[in-house]
Amino acid sequence: MQTPPIKKFVLETYGCQMNTADSELVEGILLKLGLEKTQDLHEADAIFLNTCAIRENAEVKVHSRLGNLRKIKQVKPELIIGVLGCMAQNLKDDLLKNKPYVDIILGPDSYRNIPKLMNRHLIEKKSIVDTKLSKYEVYEDMFPSRGDTFNAWVSIMRGCDKFCSFCIVPFTRGRERSRSVDSVVTEVKKAVDEGYVEITLLGQNVNSYKHEKKSFAELLLAVSDIPGVKRIRYTSPHPQDINVELLEVMASRANICNYVHFPMQSGSNEVLKRMNRTYTREHFYYMAKKIREIMPNCGLSTDIIVGFPGETDEQFRETLDLMEKIKFNSAYTFKYSSRPYTKAAQFSDQLPKQLKKDRLDEMLKLQRKHTLELNMKKVGNFEQVLIEKESKKSANHWAGRTDSNEWVIVEKNHSKIKDIIPVEIIEASGVILRGKEITGA
Ligand code: SAH
Ligand code: SF4
Ligand code: F3S
Repeated sequence: MQTPPIKKFVLETYGCQMNTADSELVEGILLKLGLEKTQDLHEADAIFLNTCAIRENAEVKVHSRLGNLRKIKQVKPELIIGVLGCMAQNLKDDLLKNKPYVDIILGPDSYRNIPKLMNRHLIEKKSIVDTKLSKYEVYEDMFPSRGDTFNAWVSIMRGCDKFCSFCIVPFTRGRERSRSVDSVVTEVKKAVDEGYVEITLLGQNVNSYKHEKKSFAELLLAVSDIPGVKRIRYTSPHPQDINVELLEVMASRANICNYVHFPMQSGSNEVLKRMNRTYTREHFYYMAKKIREIMPNCGLSTDIIVGFPGETDEQFRETLDLMEKIKFNSAYTFKYSSRPYTKAAQFSDQLPKQLKKDRLDEMLKLQRKHTLELNMKKVGNFEQVLIEKESKKSANHWAGRTDSNEWVIVEKNHSKIKDIIPVEIIEASGVILRGKEITGA
């Protein structure tokens, strides 16, 4: 294959960790072609945006970025602009019609074709689109170009078959498919050899993982057995696929973090049903208690949507009530955003913007209270903290995370990034803990 006359590229990533992992894959392909990565838009010959379509504001960001890129292209017409990922999948017709300066549009299952399609664009000099979704593509044989950090993202399954009525992911990412245990183990071993100490297993529905009868819990055990893997995290799971077997595997291994992201979405059975979430408020509460029973120090976070079509004040209060009962360590809360193709977009009882905003504000206040309350209880505890980066506020301090996913600020002393150090928690302020390294002196 001919190498395109493109020397430098910029690749910007929007959206979830799956997109971060996909960008590392794309970067791997481009570097292998002999291209060089740059951060400088003006020296780039090609600029790729790996996009997200989960809520309207994610798309707005990309449209506005494309507006900037268009200006650069006006003075540098040979610049190649590529839109990759979930928006490409979802908005190809709109992009082709209204943004003809976009040269390449690639969905998440088409990254293998980038070299071929860049060449085609250079020869045919027209916009090239490949948004075909695959039932099989898992990029099993390809190795990503990872960032210079402590953590390696490892994508283990792709797609989603759950079809929650609010969610665009099943349309942008296609059907569920998983990689073999062997290929995941090979990739993790390689990451450990390259110096990564934490492994985060990724999938749109990570715990729906299934490959030739091997379950997610079995895969976790296989990854946990690899020497040198200090910590394992995973995201994003679906509550329906969290079971006692998985929790017991987590509890049985020191290097699998005591942390579960447990997306609730709503605390009202009526709303959950209309969301097609496949569990009830009662089952969700039961499993939250089970998680903390099997792993008493487990960090628990969640995702919640406010203002789903038809959500009454009473139903909203049921959600707040379940939050009170469970008390999550942290929560990602979102105003419902209507998405094309989804079932909920057709519901006639969409709620006004202001109401969604008011509900979100009330929910944020409650969550802040819970986070602080749970963090205060940690004061005096001893925790193992993995040093991840320099504190944003002080060059003399590190920021690291506990096993259960709380951020802790500690003085630098002699520790370095990637070390796991014993720390006494001495203060809690909001979402951040302050700690003191136990030096044994
Ligand atoms: N697979 C994961 C979620 C991935 S999307 C799961 O099932 O939990 C991440 C979060 O975005 C979702 O949990 C949901 O809370 C939120 N989200 C998805 N679609 C949304 C929409 N249309 N409006 C607002 N929030 C949405
Ligand atoms: Fe979206 Fe539901 Fe699939 Fe999560 S499980 S990605 S919310 S459809
Ligand atoms: Fe966004 Fe696609 Fe992830 S829609 S949240 S980038 S799966």
